[in-house]
Amino acid sequence: MIELRTQGNGQHNLIAPSLLAANFANLENEMEWFNRSEADWLHLDVMDGVFVPNISFGFPVMESVARLTTKPLDVHLMIVQPEKFISQVRDLGAALMNVHQEACVHLHRTVQQIHEAGMRAAVTLNPATPVSTLEEIIGDVDVVMLMTVNPGFGAQKFITHSLDKVKRLRELISRTDSKALIEVDGGVNRTTAPLLRDAGVDVYVTGSAVFGKPDPAGEVSALKGLTCRVR
Ligand code: DX5
Ligand code: ZN
Repeated sequence: MIELRTQGNGQHNLIAPSLLAANFANLENEMEWFNRSEADWLHLDVMDGVFVPNISFGFPVMESVARLTTKPLDVHLMIVQPEKFISQVRDLGAALMNVHQEACVHLHRTVQQIHEAGMRAAVTLNPATPVSTLEEIIGDVDVVMLMTVNPGFGAQKFITHSLDKVKRLRELISRTDSKALIEVDGGVNRTTAPLLRDAGVDVYVTGSAVFGKPDPAGEVSALKGLTCRVR
């Protein structure tokens, strides 16, 4: 399993570019800049047209991409019954399997099974789902991801009151002595990243603010700098 606490016990600033915003006609080129950039994880958005009103890509695409990088894969499953795919995500070589709280009837079991498969477990909350729904499981998860837009599409507007939600999650993590990292997904850019850093975020998923830009690796470096507390 990947080490999530390599920078002491302080706040992390891991950048996870989201492949959803990539040019799918030239993934080799996208992975070339990704590999030489300061990006920490590759975020992969799987959509089923049921849990979210959109369909993205599935295992054949992710298998091809997985062969093009050695950086950790963060597989974000916006699908119903994600537990059906634990072994397939594991076989992909994913470091993190990221499931929605709203999609898991037996979330505790699913988290256990993800760990048994040798992966880190990330649990995601939609914007309308309260942080308090994780009270009973916060000690068992490696990452909590907050959707800062409604899932299903890239390039949407950041939901501003997510900043208060991040603070509530940070408070829950501190109060319970949980080791979970806080990840955010949606509308992360040069403007919102510093606000999220101040609220206590560790992992920043970013799609349209990076892919398609003239210098995507430079955008990653800029976000890395803007999210660092000591620099
Ligand atoms: C949205 C996805 C995101 C998306 C973020 O449902 O989960 O990962 O790619 O895109 P941006 O950064 O453009 O908001
Ligand atoms: Zn995502």
